[in-house]
Amino acid sequence: RNIKYYDFVVQETNFTKLCSTKSMLTVNGSFPGPTIAVHKGDIIYVNVHNQGNYGFTIHWHGVKQPRNPWSDGPENITQCPIQPGKNFTYEVIFTTEEGTLWWHAHSDWTRATVHGAIVILPAAGTTYPYPTPYSQQTLVIASWFKGDVKAIIDEALATGGDPNISDAYTINGQPGDLYPCSNETTFHLLVEYGKTYLLRIINAVMNEEQFFGIANHSLTVVGQDGAYLKPITTDYIMITPGQTMDVLVTANQAPSYYYMSSNPFFDSVAPFDNTTSTAILQYKGNFTRPSSIPFPTLPSITNDSAASNFTTRLRSLASKNHPVNVPKNITQHLYITISVNELPCANASCAGPNGDRLAASLNNVSFVTPDIDILEAYYRSLTGVFDEDFPSFPPNFFNFTGDTTNVSVFTATGTKVKMLNYGDAVEIVFQGTNIGAAENHPMHVHGNSFYVVGNGTGNFNNLTDPLSYNLIDPPELNTVGVPKNGWVAIRFFANNPGVWFIHCHLERHASWGMDTVLIVKNGKTKATSLRSPPAYMPPCS
Ligand code: C2O
Ligand code: CU
Repeated sequence: RNIKYYDFVVQETNFTKLCSTKSMLTVNGSFPGPTIAVHKGDIIYVNVHNQGNYGFTIHWHGVKQPRNPWSDGPENITQCPIQPGKNFTYEVIFTTEEGTLWWHAHSDWTRATVHGAIVILPAAGTTYPYPTPYSQQTLVIASWFKGDVKAIIDEALATGGDPNISDAYTINGQPGDLYPCSNETTFHLLVEYGKTYLLRIINAVMNEEQFFGIANHSLTVVGQDGAYLKPITTDYIMITPGQTMDVLVTANQAPSYYYMSSNPFFDSVAPFDNTTSTAILQYKGNFTRPSSIPFPTLPSITNDSAASNFTTRLRSLASKNHPVNVPKNITQHLYITISVNELPCANASCAGPNGDRLAASLNNVSFVTPDIDILEAYYRSLTGVFDEDFPSFPPNFFNFTGDTTNVSVFTATGTKVKMLNYGDAVEIVFQGTNIGAAENHPMHVHGNSFYVVGNGTGNFNNLTDPLSYNLIDPPELNTVGVPKNGWVAIRFFANNPGVWFIHCHLERHASWGMDTVLIVKNGKTKATSLRSPPAYMPPCS
């Protein structure tokens, strides 16, 4: 096991895109931020120096951090923010993860500009479960806002309305040829004819799932969320915010230029950014750029079946070297409805529907972020910070995905957590609903990966749907897209004691309360118990 050290200096930096300049928070002056490259099982120490104007935290998305939620990062869930002028060293412990993950700020909307890739190579003496690629490249897809992201979400929360949509998507920081003032900087990936490349694709977008493809080239998906998959060949991928995908592409077409592009998969009435980001796959050699470059054919923006046809093909490798460990006898069943709601306006009138303010919930609880972190409160047995009564089932049953005109759109508020025993075999069924407006929700669980054992449209049926579960080779993810007006069932063993955030990875939903917390209690031994905190946790004011 290797140990590596990184310094992240977080500071305001000027960037010019789409013909306008703004100051934004970056790590070490770059967007996207620096790539962390490790081998499976390494430990890294990342000293984060806050030279910006406000507090924030950093999260290591998809890294399980066994017994170590102290370094997981979500603000006021596992730590208080690192204040301006202060620093904090995260200890990031890699164990079973292999492939691609990412890191990002986990405070309000700071992650829009503060994020980067984590590349996890096979451990020394082991190899990829596929032919070693000639070369590899990270592709980070992100959102670009001309305005200040903190101001955008602060204003939306103050008025109760929808936050502004982004002005562009970027691939490795560049909007690409279709946007104004952007074609000089379009990202180019230079390839050699006949060679195979590993693309490590990260969806760091704030509010929209994405389709991605490369003109004339087929993609072979071999991994997702830091775990291997049985290879599948496809013309496009669908990747939700939070997810990562490892894709092989062979440069086997006539040497030329080909567009790679991403555009949203978004099927809802909510406002969204309907633009297309491009990069170029460019063959090495002596030829001139053609006047027209072929474009990939991607599914239309609202094509739900194109999205599910892709995701339902994904299977774990489930091999001798990469076995699966799917719980069979469940000890904790959770059934969690997901909805976009409303809350009454504190002032006379808000910018949400009917003068209310927009909200979101899980099991009709709209999560309220406490003033001091839940981990600290749990560890020190402080009362009054959270309640242990997050419901295991929705408070009332109705036709979740049918006509909901008579169902109240209003939600309850609270800081409610779900307690789990160490070693519990957990099943969570996430149920999308038709309240407000139905849409897809990428649900993310911290501190654990999970197996996606089933999914379907309509309401989950607890008698018949489990009969079709895949318990043999379900994909192992940390973020799963719950289909519009449908459901997803996930399973995992609660063998990581600590405090773990669960939330929608669409940032506007997370900001509106589509979140909860799992607390996994200690086991019987020291090795199955939460570690004690480092002495230097950022203080809560
Ligand atoms: Cu990628 Cu809670 O985050
Ligand atoms: Cu959502």
